[in-house]
Amino acid sequence: MAESTKTATLSFEGKTVDLPIRTPTAGPDVVDISKLYAQGGVFTHDPGYTSTSSCESKITFIDGDKGELLHRGYPIDQLAQKSHYLEVCYLLLYGDLPTAAELEDFESRVTNHTMVHEQMHNFFRGFRRDAHPMATLVGVVGAMSAFYHDSTDISDPWQREVASIRMIAKVPTIAAMAYKYSIGQPFVYPRNDIDYAANFLRMCFAVPAEDYEVDPIMARAMDRIFTLHADHEQNASTSTVRLASSSGANPFACIAAGIACLWGPAHGGANQACLEMLREIGTPDRIPEFIARAKDKDDPFRLMGFGHRVYKNFDPRAKVMKQSADEVLDLMGIHDNPTLQVAKELERIALEDEYFVDKKLYPNVDFYSGIILDAMGFPTSMFTPIFAVSRTVGWVSQWKEMISDPAMKIGRPRQLYTGHTRRDYVDVENR
Ligand code: CMC
Repeated sequence: MAESTKTATLSFEGKTVDLPIRTPTAGPDVVDISKLYAQGGVFTHDPGYTSTSSCESKITFIDGDKGELLHRGYPIDQLAQKSHYLEVCYLLLYGDLPTAAELEDFESRVTNHTMVHEQMHNFFRGFRRDAHPMATLVGVVGAMSAFYHDSTDISDPWQREVASIRMIAKVPTIAAMAYKYSIGQPFVYPRNDIDYAANFLRMCFAVPAEDYEVDPIMARAMDRIFTLHADHEQNASTSTVRLASSSGANPFACIAAGIACLWGPAHGGANQACLEMLREIGTPDRIPEFIARAKDKDDPFRLMGFGHRVYKNFDPRAKVMKQSADEVLDLMGIHDNPTLQVAKELERIALEDEYFVDKKLYPNVDFYSGIILDAMGFPTSMFTPIFAVSRTVGWVSQWKEMISDPAMKIGRPRQLYTGHTRRDYVDVENR
């Protein structure tokens, strides 16, 4: 990036501070306020970071107005159609598309780490069977730091690499184990002779009592879902991972923090909430009732799978997901799926409604993904864990980028304090 020659000038209370403006390779210019407090004695205030860039990154770019998502420059629709998940993982982690030999080596490194420490099986048994699989996932991924001591030294690039591969390889195994545990079935060990998506499906749906052949259509759909969720620049869970890691915490603990953040219904939990909402709507004639509720300021209900902090246009992932929903259901011989019909009609009505048009609320990635996962046989409680499996590579890539940046500092936001000013302690008998 070229050194900036532009500056912004902030004048207040007789002071003037010149702030450098940095020009990114894409996206709006960024006013660098890092010296503002030192030079002007004031903080900036931006809850929710609506106008604040929290880091410099080369991994993913989103143009929210155009509805464009690029990983290392490549558009998501091209990656979804032409590439596959592990190749996208390589791209996110290392910056460029791999050669055939590099891809083969990467795939074999991931494949060779899919098993988890056998002692982890006992660890699972401490959870209640009815625990949400996300609760189990947060706990077990965090516990990886107790099992893989040899890859927790973040100052060692080799250990960072091993930890990254371990997480991409083992989080699917752990998510599948969380599912198996929740339904009272034995854990299914990973298989290294089938691809990443097929292996995940097998670990979720096979049982030791019979042979299980992964349906290639299902594997392709699973791979597409993984690919579409792989990274999304500085979203809440990724920023959580970056903030947690900025203190020097070990990578497994940091990814567990990201999983915890992802769980919320405004973020990764929206896929579960969206399918539950579509089922509750049930039939197209009830859509107006739900649209009215979403618009009612006194009703906390929101149309799940709609709206996005960055996209003020179609979420490009939602476009691919909608097409995939049609393809997958068709290939699986599921015609006239009532939930898909409700979703399409809801989308049509919302996109013509003044409220949604004015606020630029469009379907996001979670709007159609649940329909595909449901058709594949996953319960709604597994939707967010599947998002976590897919996003692990994004978190890991952003974590690696941050740790290897010599300018890395502990993240430490300031505040606009509005509490009491200093006051003296009053003894209890005098209160
Ligand atoms: N239904 C109804 N109204 C909405 C919705 C919605 N889904 N989303 C936003 N609005 C309204 C909101 O009430 C606000 O209105 P007003 O300006 O009158 O107060 C306006 O649109 C702007 O919304 P906001 O909450 O200020 O926007 P935000 O950027 O803080 O929130 C969001 C973004 C994704 C949290 C929000 O759109 C939402 O809650 N959507 C539903 C949950 C969802 O689908 N989340 C998945 C996001 S994509 C995947 C991921 O990131 O994990």
